[in-house]
Amino acid sequence: MSMDSIIFEVVTNRDSITKKMENADDAARLLSCGSKVAYQQNLEFLEKWHRDEIPGKKYTISLYEDQVTSDNIAGVLRIWQSPYCDDKWLLEGIEVRYDKRRKGYGKKLVQKALEILKNLSVAEVYLNVNNTNNSSRALVMSLGFKLCSEGCKNSFGHELKTSNHYVYQF
Ligand SMILES: CC(C)(COP(=O)(O)OP(=O)(O)OC[C@H]1O[C@@H](n2cnc3c(N)ncnc32)[C@H](O)[C@@H]1OP(=O)(O)O)[C@@H](O)C(=O)NCCC(=O)NCCS
Repeated sequence: MSMDSIIFEVVTNRDSITKKMENADDAARLLSCGSKVAYQQNLEFLEKWHRDEIPGKKYTISLYEDQVTSDNIAGVLRIWQSPYCDDKWLLEGIEVRYDKRRKGYGKKLVQKALEILKNLSVAEVYLNVNNTNNSSRALVMSLGFKLCSEGCKNSFGHELKTSNHYVYQF
């Protein structure tokens, strides 16, 4: 699959509920790796996210191969201006389908998020990475994120001792 045939779908707060629910279903499938229990949990969270029961500005990016169908979703990433974190912009929930990793999709998703935030004239964006997650750390450092603290708060404002906080400044 060449990079020419990837398609990004970006869902924002203003999109229709139909588009949001389709996106929630596709993303929940991807995140659940075939587990029905995980699918239900992910779907419940993503439906709340898209219904704005979770407050704040949100951009949900999905990467599809070739065409926008549930079988073709290969990666997801969420951008959130979280009111639980002093309205900071955060990247979270990046996940590339297991069999689609190391093809550059994770990098493309983060680059797409940075492009969206740049167009919004955002000055900086933050991201938390678990300190055992070497692949994510390598990915974000290679794109210019800098470590800003060891330990951090998650996007809901809860302390995470095992994750580190990274910042990208435009
Ligand atoms: C982290 C993740 C999103 C990377 O996605 P990906 O599509 O495989 O990443 P890319 O192919 O774009 O890789 C970009 C760079 O990241 C780094 N990287 C990615 N996977 C890596 C691995 N397993 N080991 C070391 N470095 C890795 C490399 O620097 C790579 O560049 P290179 O291929 O030129 O060496 C993917 O592994 C994933 O979904 N992991 C599970 C979920 C997760 O950990 N999310 C992050 C929470 S912050």
